[in-house]
Amino acid sequence: MIKPIRLGVNIDHVATIRNARGGHHPDPVRAARIAIAAGADGITAHLREDRRHISDDDIAALVATCTVPLNLEMAATAEMLQIALRFKPHAVCLVPERREERTTEGGLDAAGGASHLRPFVDELTGQGIAVTLFIEPAPSQVEAAAALAAHAVEFHTGRYCHAAAGEARAAELARITAAAQQGRRLGLECHAGHGLTYESVAPIARIAEIVELNIGHFLIGEAVFDGLAATVACMRALMSEARASADPAP
Ligand code: PXP
Repeated sequence: MIKPIRLGVNIDHVATIRNARGGHHPDPVRAARIAIAAGADGITAHLREDRRHISDDDIAALVATCTVPLNLEMAATAEMLQIALRFKPHAVCLVPERREERTTEGGLDAAGGASHLRPFVDELTGQGIAVTLFIEPAPSQVEAAAALAAHAVEFHTGRYCHAAAGEARAAELARITAAAQQGRRLGLECHAGHGLTYESVAPIARIAEIVELNIGHFLIGEAVFDGLAATVACMRALMSEARASADPAP
């Protein structure tokens, strides 16, 4: 029996547009409501150290109003830990963060950074928050995430999405598939995300070990043309269709 696959809609870039002019429009909380009504299984928001998109007030409003699980993406810093412990979202996804980057450009080094990450994983888990580590689909990183007793790993799909169609993309897909199989064997829930579009989502949704995709930039961009509800519904349908033809996990 293949597990269904969840869609987490990342609403960061609704806040990016709002912040371009200041004020309150467009409201990421309203976007979350529309995404949920259109089939989102979860809402994801990245509170960055520089607050370039989502703000602390957005997180408070999402916690108060979200009717589906909220996944808070954040760097492993003391400030963010205090915020997560205050708001207690359903899940925290620990991500690497550099001020100068345009977006999250690669996975966490769970292997090299285990001693820094351990207290974050332990404290959040101890408060009933499911901890995900955003990592590259590499055996050493999956092993390190399991050793840290994270609840889940999210595989960075950026390299897969940017690879040229054909052999290069097939090789990236194979890396993600192998990492997901390893993650399941080690008891980790497996998620994936970054850069996914209508065109790239199906092969990832067909990996039976992956049970959640977090998608933002493409959905918010496409919503300019088609509306957010139609865009989320279309992505949801593409994922479900691909899932129906997945090989069951062994
Ligand atoms: N997952 C994580 C951990 C991310 O940091 C991001 C980007 O904020 C995403 C998923 C979504 O990526 P995109 O916006 O490219 O769909």
